[in-house]
Amino acid sequence: MNKRNQNLLLAGALGLAGAYVASKVVSQSSRSRAGAARNGGLVTAGVIDTAALAVDVLAPTFAKGVIVRRPKVVALAERLGLDARAVRRMQKLHDKYGDGPLMLPLPIRKQAVLLAPEHVRRVLDESPEPFSAASSEKRAALSHFEPKGALISCGRERAERRRFNEEVLEHERAVHHMVGKFLPTVDDEAGRMLAGARDQGELDWDSFNAGWTRMVRRVVFGDGAAGDQEISDLIIELRKTANWAFMHPKKTGMRERFLARIQAYLDRAEPGSLAAVAASVPKSPDTAANQQVPQWLFAFDAAGMATFRALALLAAHPEQAARARAELRSHPGIERQYLPFLRATVLESLRLWPTTPAILRQTTRDTDWGGDTMPAGTGVLVFTPFFHRDDRRMACANRFAPELWLKDDQVRDAQDRDWPLIPFSSGPVTCPARNLVLMLTSVMLGALIDAGADGRALQLLPQGRLDPARLPGTLDNYGLRFALR
Ligand code: HEM
Repeated sequence: MNKRNQNLLLAGALGLAGAYVASKVVSQSSRSRAGAARNGGLVTAGVIDTAALAVDVLAPTFAKGVIVRRPKVVALAERLGLDARAVRRMQKLHDKYGDGPLMLPLPIRKQAVLLAPEHVRRVLDESPEPFSAASSEKRAALSHFEPKGALISCGRERAERRRFNEEVLEHERAVHHMVGKFLPTVDDEAGRMLAGARDQGELDWDSFNAGWTRMVRRVVFGDGAAGDQEISDLIIELRKTANWAFMHPKKTGMRERFLARIQAYLDRAEPGSLAAVAASVPKSPDTAANQQVPQWLFAFDAAGMATFRALALLAAHPEQAARARAELRSHPGIERQYLPFLRATVLESLRLWPTTPAILRQTTRDTDWGGDTMPAGTGVLVFTPFFHRDDRRMACANRFAPELWLKDDQVRDAQDRDWPLIPFSSGPVTCPARNLVLMLTSVMLGALIDAGADGRALQLLPQGRLDPARLPGTLDNYGLRFALR
């Protein structure tokens, strides 16, 4: 299928989905309660509000691409301010219905939307039972490239796969023990990016992303994989089909080739790579190690986006950029393994523009909400931008506020706060790579802002691209460009 047909198909599918939701929702109107229906626990949304939520919140989130982003839609979302609009819609729903959970009267699925911090905490803390991360739509999407991935596994298998991920990614440690190998790799790739930028006069997404994915392959598989563009292309192809979840047939042959290639790297276990760490930790027949690695490759993309957006934040905030440079000066060499301010900057990039805006759960049994019963099989949505950007509750909602993440010179864990700032989620399903990601992204960010070793610095193009007084709801990372001046 050529690109034009794909775009037409996308537009058609979205139109159909919208029409389907609207028609089904309207056909249910006689059964759903009009306006706010409060009964102490669950609250049912009215028909018009459900349709508005589908159009303003769900449609843009899914149209941008949940598994791999569609750059044109992301650019459109920034131009039309779609993410800011989604937050406003959620605020209106909260004003009207209160804390919920809000039940959507959809005929095709029992679906709840969370509006209160304590409900978010409960659902994330009580995952994966009774709030399973392996929701139907997530299973449909991720099984295109990792049918045995931890995130879509259950029971004993999930426990084993989670343990494997935690051990290899060193979930509990602020600094991964392979730091001595990883830091020079980041420096090396940052150096190449900057050399390219010096030649071209600017650093754009394509050059950044090429270096970033090389860095990821070296960290995950070892230097021997530096030039293996094919493995990165394979996962992108599989993720494109995954965006369509149930609606696209699986490319099983391609998936097998991809997983076999990963297995070959795991067997090789090049010293200094995550593959080598994977070889050193215990495994059982349930582990399916080669099916945990696709999640790493996939999720490192999000880390690249967060880094590039963080670079834009620093370029637009000279005072904070100066503080970041001072931090680099006071943490030379290997001491860069823990850069609190730069880590907080990446966390801010993720608060402002979360790369997982929809955290999804599905209940495995009936759950009680203030005397009301949410039935087994209900989908539960945490739409993180609503909490991250709620200007009714946070004065700095739309500004760059790295101090939110800093406490006594340490990066604060999202878990110790009342208000859910949860770019990496929280609770037993929280991202096990949070610390590894923050280490690699902060060091890459530091290397890029330190481009001015020869007196030059990266400047965001065009001037005034970001307004510090009101940061946009969407920041199109694909369109960001920096001049090296
Ligand atoms: C900026 C980068 C990243 C962000 C924002 C992020 C965020 C998340 C989020 C929100 C979840 C879902 C948790 C839930 O459903 O409650 C998750 C799960 C996961 N992430 Fe990340 N992630 C990132 C990068 C990575 C990387 C680079 C890796 C591996 C190297 C990784 C490994 C995983 C794994 C294995 C899971 C599944 C955990 C489970 O099922 O228990 N993530 N991540």
